[in-house]
Amino acid sequence: MRLITSMQQMQDLARERRATPGSIGFVPTMGALHAGHLSLLQRARAECSTVVASIFVNPLQFGPIEDFALYPRTFDADCAALEAASIDVLFAPTVAEMYPSGAVTTITVSDISSRLDGASRPGHFIGVATVVAKLFHLVQPHRAYFGQKDAAQLAVLRQMVRDLNFDLELIACPIIRDPDGLALSSRNRYLTDAQRNDALTLRRTLFAIESAITHGNRDAQALIALGNTLVQQQPALQLDYLAIVDPGTLLSLTLAQPGALIAIAAKAGSTRLIDNALAP
Ligand code: PAJ
Repeated sequence: MRLITSMQQMQDLARERRATPGSIGFVPTMGALHAGHLSLLQRARAECSTVVASIFVNPLQFGPIEDFALYPRTFDADCAALEAASIDVLFAPTVAEMYPSGAVTTITVSDISSRLDGASRPGHFIGVATVVAKLFHLVQPHRAYFGQKDAAQLAVLRQMVRDLNFDLELIACPIIRDPDGLALSSRNRYLTDAQRNDALTLRRTLFAIESAITHGNRDAQALIALGNTLVQQQPALQLDYLAIVDPGTLLSLTLAQPGALIAIAAKAGSTRLIDNALAP
């Protein structure tokens, strides 16, 4: 695996690969890799001749009181995992490299960026869209792989790719979970045993809503009320949102039609967790 830290070198290599037959697959990450990230890398490996992964903890997408400084950084273990997954290139720039002084341009995907996670994390999706646009210019992928776990992020990026004519295909990959149902996340390592147990309520709530839908109840208000009741039984869990929305626009739906996005976010202690399911 080749490690690249300079934007210029990354873009030179991408230009070279773009000029030869074969496809470039790209998996952007913030590191602290787990089986969720690896599933994206495996899919890219199976589908593309060159696979580029990036590790960059992007300060622009963290709010002033969020966990940027504390975000887990496990670079050596990540490199070993990427080597084992036969990744061709790791792009791991520093913050000073990605945002040299004087850089002022950002990307705002109106109004999607202010829905769901964007509502509780103002500016978050501006940071995500800006860094992902930069990474797309540097890596020039034919295909870029993202997890369905971050469903709102996916909606924002799909809209950006469409609006700004990025010449690539965005590929959504399924949520990878621990055997007990908890969606894998780099932040799960912050959880105490008790918080981890409370966190299972996210999946349980989604599951209860999915089964109510299967039994014929598609009324979004009633389904959310059902979910809220379950979350309230876990007072240690602080609900941020439970919503049934259109997966493209993230606007609320009155009916949970098949494919509707059922999304939940909650805090266990100071750790913010998200999960979602698509209505059956
Ligand atoms: P990060 O949280 O490191 O996630 C990188 C990718 O892995 C994202 O596409 C995310 O949806 C996916 N992922 C995380 N957990 C997953 C799981 N349990 N199952 C499947 N996929 C999972 O998302 C980001 O980084 C950043 O916002 C980034 C896009 C890199 C921009 O900075």
